[in-house]
Order: sequence, then C-alpha cells, then structure tokens
Amino acid sequence: HKVGPLSGKRVLVTSGPTHEPIDPVRYIANRSSGKQGHAIARAAAELGAEVTLVSGPVSIPDPPGVTVVRVETAREMLAAVEARMPVDAAVFCAAVADWRVAQAGEEKLKKDGSGPPSLGLVENPDILATIARRKEGRPILVVGFAAETEKVVEHAKAKLARKGCDWIVANDVSHTGEPGSGVMGGDRNTVAIVSAQGVESWPDMDKSDVARKLAERIATALKDKQWV
Ligand code: C5P
Repeated sequence: HKVGPLSGKRVLVTSGPTHEPIDPVRYIANRSSGKQGHAIARAAAELGAEVTLVSGPVSIPDPPGVTVVRVETAREMLAAVEARMPVDAAVFCAAVADWRVAQAGEEKLKKDGSGPPSLGLVENPDILATIARRKEGRPILVVGFAAETEKVVEHAKAKLARKGCDWIVANDVSHTGEPGSGVMGGDRNTVAIVSAQGVESWPDMDKSDVARKLAERIATALKDKQWV
C-alpha cells in the first residue's frame, strides 16, 4: 500500500449499477457508469487506504491498487459488502436497483400467445441503510450519495436521517450546471456534502477531483479515531 493520510485504514466503496435478472438472458439495469465510485476507490488507495471496491457490471477498468469484488445483483452486493466488514469508512456510490423480479424465470420467457408477461417486483435490500444502522461493527464513517433534480440539499438532509448515515454527497442531476455535469455516464459532477454539521457546496469539477477531495475529507474525519 501507498503511504498517506489513510495508511492503515480500511475503506469500502460500492460502485456501478446492479443487474436484476428477469430470466437467464434478460435483466433490469440502469445507466450508472461506475466512474464516480471507481474514482473514489482509486483516490482512497492513493492516500494509503486498504480499499475494497464492490462493483456491479461496468465497462471501465479496475482502479489500480484496489481489491475488486464483482457482483451482479443488489443481494449479491449486500452479501459482498457484509463479508468485508469491519471497515473504517464505507462509501456507497452504487446505483442499486430498487426492485427485482420476484420470481425470475429459470427458462427464457416465451411469446406463447397469451400476451406479455407481468413482472411482479419486490423491493431490494437497502445496502447503505443496512450498514449504517448496524449495532455492532458499524464503520466509523458511512457516506451515501443522492442524485436529485430539485431541492437537492433539502432532500439530502431527509435522506441522511432516513438512512442513518454520516454524510450524503448530493449531486445535482438537474442539468442546470456545466454542460455534461451530473449526467449519468458523464465525467463531471457538481456535489454538496451534507452532514449534521451543515452543508458544503463544491464547484463543478471532474469526477476524479470530487474523488480526491472526498478521500481527503475522509482521512481528516478518521484521523485519531479508534474503534469504539
Ligand atoms: O434511496 P436512494 O436510492 O436515493 O439512495 C441512494 C443512496 O443509497 C446511494 O448511496 C446508494 O448507493 C444507496 N443505496 C443502497 N442500496 C439500495 C438503494 C440505495 O446502498 N438498495
């Protein structure tokens, strides 16, 4: 590991989308590229942390110096995250599917003349909330993300309370900032860090710069903190 302000710290990051199977050849997914989560994993490793990146299916390369665990579904992601506990800091950047098909077909669905099948959906586990609300072995710092189009900070504050995490990185996906900023798959992001201490709005910047700044913040927050 590199030597830096996160030396000796264990950091976990989730990234990318999840894929929820419909049948053996079809799935429900979303447009998450994994760029922001992968950049955070990389930045934490560059500051010396021992980093595990739990990633859904993405087409970008693995960040250097990071242990990558690949998963497909939300339930696999939760199991992989729980298997890595305890960690000092956990950053939940993945765009986890809210729902999965209750009974994914074991055989490929066929057009049998009886009309389109209905997909009964059930809720997926909330990975961030599950970890943030742990009674034992909770990470010292739990960070969530929130993509909002309006009332960004107000919604992020509500999410902070609902999920039980320490910080919410709220990103404005309203497309009112710089062109390309906050768009899923884009290279730039405009974020605000919302915590019990208040709100800090960062200017529009590259996702790699958001990642570096966030990793530095995490290092400061963890400084001198011990397991409790
Ligand atoms: O509730 P919402 O999806 O808006 O919250 C987003 C935050 O919660 C992100 O940090 C995301 O990674 C996390 N999340 C999760 N598991 C879910 C849904 C969201 O970890 N099932």
